[in-house]
Amino acid sequence: MAFPNNRMRRLRTTDSMRRLVRETTVAVDNLVYPLFVRKGNRLKEPIESMADCFHFSPDTIVKEAEEVAKLGIPAILLFGLPDKKDKTGSEAWSEDGAVQSAIRQIKKAVPQLVIITDVCLCAYTSTGHCGLIKDGTVDNDSTIELLAKVALSHAQAGADMVAPSDMMDGRVKAIRDCLEKNGFPDVAIMSYAAKFASAFYGPFRDAAESAPDASTGLTDRKTYQMDPANARQALSKMALDIEEGADIVMVKPALPYLDIIYRARQRFDCPIAAYNVSGEYMMIHASASAGHIDKDAAIMESLTSIKRAGADIIITYFAKEASRILKK
Ligand code: PBG
Repeated sequence: MAFPNNRMRRLRTTDSMRRLVRETTVAVDNLVYPLFVRKGNRLKEPIESMADCFHFSPDTIVKEAEEVAKLGIPAILLFGLPDKKDKTGSEAWSEDGAVQSAIRQIKKAVPQLVIITDVCLCAYTSTGHCGLIKDGTVDNDSTIELLAKVALSHAQAGADMVAPSDMMDGRVKAIRDCLEKNGFPDVAIMSYAAKFASAFYGPFRDAAESAPDASTGLTDRKTYQMDPANARQALSKMALDIEEGADIVMVKPALPYLDIIYRARQRFDCPIAAYNVSGEYMMIHASASAGHIDKDAAIMESLTSIKRAGADIIITYFAKEASRILKK
């Protein structure tokens, strides 16, 4: 009888043995929980397109932030919705905007929680685009000035980190210069650097009411977000953002782009974040609800894969669930 010359199964015999040789572990420390806030009082409205997610008002989001902190999750990522949209998205930098008010209240109640804010215009513009429309296209250079104003208003309210998600060129430098000039040298920038024009943002756009308006003649974001076919371009963009002053660079979405995370990890020494986006979240949710997959197992397998590819930080709507699974 021939014997296998190496029995790989020896190290898989028991749970303890598997734990002993495990190469990758996801910790609650790696997770960021995204939250949506809009003006008002006592709001906690279920978001139809995203199971178990809510629109909060600045008062109710404080309770949620306290719960997140209690679970051991170190950071939240805030998205805002305006009362009124306009051409320039001016509510995005308003001192009493939903995000700005939420930051102030959360900081008072849970000062240890890292507050990251999404910096973009798409939820605030009547066009649904991430920048200003000029001559039938999304204008780069006038947009980055506004993005710097948005970032500054978040810093003034007390944000620890700003996360530009618009994909204009030069926005990281514009934001960094503006923060330095105005006395916020310690506010970090996490740039959505490798952000692809993805179909997986669908549920989020319903949640943020930020889908591009057809009347603009531009029904997608392909002139500013990256082509899913490009990997080298993603690495170039990450290098540029780091040069411009980003402290953390992000790959988004996560699961269809594990190769980008892996290559970024080989190439750059700064922390790498991955955004496990709304469509990825709802795929697991829908499939588990239909009884096709085991939800907890699918969540942990996904997060472990993202970590194994090289991400240090995972932004995920599963953060609360994952922290509970990890405690079991
Ligand atoms: C805004 C923004 C989007 C997401 C994060 N910031 C949507 C988009 O670019 O259309 C998507 C997040 C998700 O799908 O979970 N620019």
